[in-house]
Amino acid sequence: MRVLLLGSGGREHALAWKLVQSPQLTELHAAPGNPGIAALGQCHPVRAGDTEAVLGLARALQADLVVVGPEVPLVAGLADVLRSGGIPVFGPSKAAAAIEGSKSFAKDVMAAAGVPTAATLSEPIAPCVLKADGLAAGKGVVVCHTHAEADAGLVELAALGGRLVIEELLEGPEISVFALCDGSSCVALPVAQDFKRAYDGDGGPNTGGMGSFAPVPGFASREIEELLDLSCRPILAELAGRGQPFIGTLFAGLMLTPNGPRVLEYNCRFGDPETQSLMPLLEDDLLEALAACAAGDLGDAHLGRGAGAAVTVVLAAGDYPAQGDSGSQIRGIEAATATGALVFHAGTALRDGVVVTNGGRILNVTGVGDDIRAARAAAYAAADLIDWDGVRRRDDIALAAATGAITAPR
Ligand code: AMP
Ligand code: GLY
Repeated sequence: MRVLLLGSGGREHALAWKLVQSPQLTELHAAPGNPGIAALGQCHPVRAGDTEAVLGLARALQADLVVVGPEVPLVAGLADVLRSGGIPVFGPSKAAAAIEGSKSFAKDVMAAAGVPTAATLSEPIAPCVLKADGLAAGKGVVVCHTHAEADAGLVELAALGGRLVIEELLEGPEISVFALCDGSSCVALPVAQDFKRAYDGDGGPNTGGMGSFAPVPGFASREIEELLDLSCRPILAELAGRGQPFIGTLFAGLMLTPNGPRVLEYNCRFGDPETQSLMPLLEDDLLEALAACAAGDLGDAHLGRGAGAAVTVVLAAGDYPAQGDSGSQIRGIEAATATGALVFHAGTALRDGVVVTNGGRILNVTGVGDDIRAARAAAYAAADLIDWDGVRRRDDIALAAATGAITAPR
């Protein structure tokens, strides 16, 4: 199978790493890709957001499958254009991707499907959560404990324009649930957790994600199936009933509240940096599962996982998330890889054959081990070997889980 993978982040490098292990893969192409992906397949200078260029490339390559990483092109309708061009796609249509692209659409579908979520409020009175309706690259949610925060949040979100969703403020640990969907049925990946805040102890501003681990203790196959019954299967049925079947990764962000799990949001794609921790855990052929979803028939495809765990530490620019870094020479990637850890590229570039920084989140270092403690030790031991001027990371990724603290009360 000739596969075209769209995107350029650590998530896509991890997907590429797993896809090239498939006996069914004949050629891996990526657009635009990154220097890590370039070591696994052929990268093409086409942006995932350039619909016509992507269609042209997929046709020229005679791609048997296009796998779409990021949400922006999906919400804009890229999968529809490719499918009407006769190209199989792993990724939802524009109508189905609205589950991520519009918070109010997601609320409407959740209500119709009977999925437990935060109550919608009519007034922005603290405690509450304010959400911009559309995609906002992680900047569209303001959690308001006080009236002053609510007032400031209203001003902040007004600047983004568009509709506002006001929600009940919930509390509890968060988990990420992933289902690969063929339009009517789905298969689960392990449950993961990510670390969104910039600094240790969950302080500072929200980021794209500073680390992740999987599996979350307490969520074995039976518990995962329960979560799919709660948060994914009703959505698939509701969307299919509306004539908008969801093909791709349905990613439910859940909060484990004292009153039970509540869905905070849906995403229409793999999580970043969760995917970097998930791919090394999968035993079965990811390509086979993605192709079966794209063909609309998962059949009895399943994705068994081994007994181990994985922890991913993001190495970011010194001023991330305020600012990225570019052109600084990165040292130690080979030494880190030699430890057995995986180093997934995100914001890197090649300059005269040298890997340099080129973004906010630069590299992801993933350690795999028999348990979270071992995986965490492997990730940090490898991360210690990588350096550039200003490199920054969190030192507490998966710390609570590794030391036995319950991060996911049942
Ligand atoms: P979302 O983009 O909806 O996932 O929101 C981003 C983050 O905001 C979530 O990961 C939560 O940490 C927080 N959040 C969203 N909705 C709520 C809520 N109803 N109560 C508390 N925190 C929330
Ligand atoms: N890690 C959260 C996300 O990908 O949106």
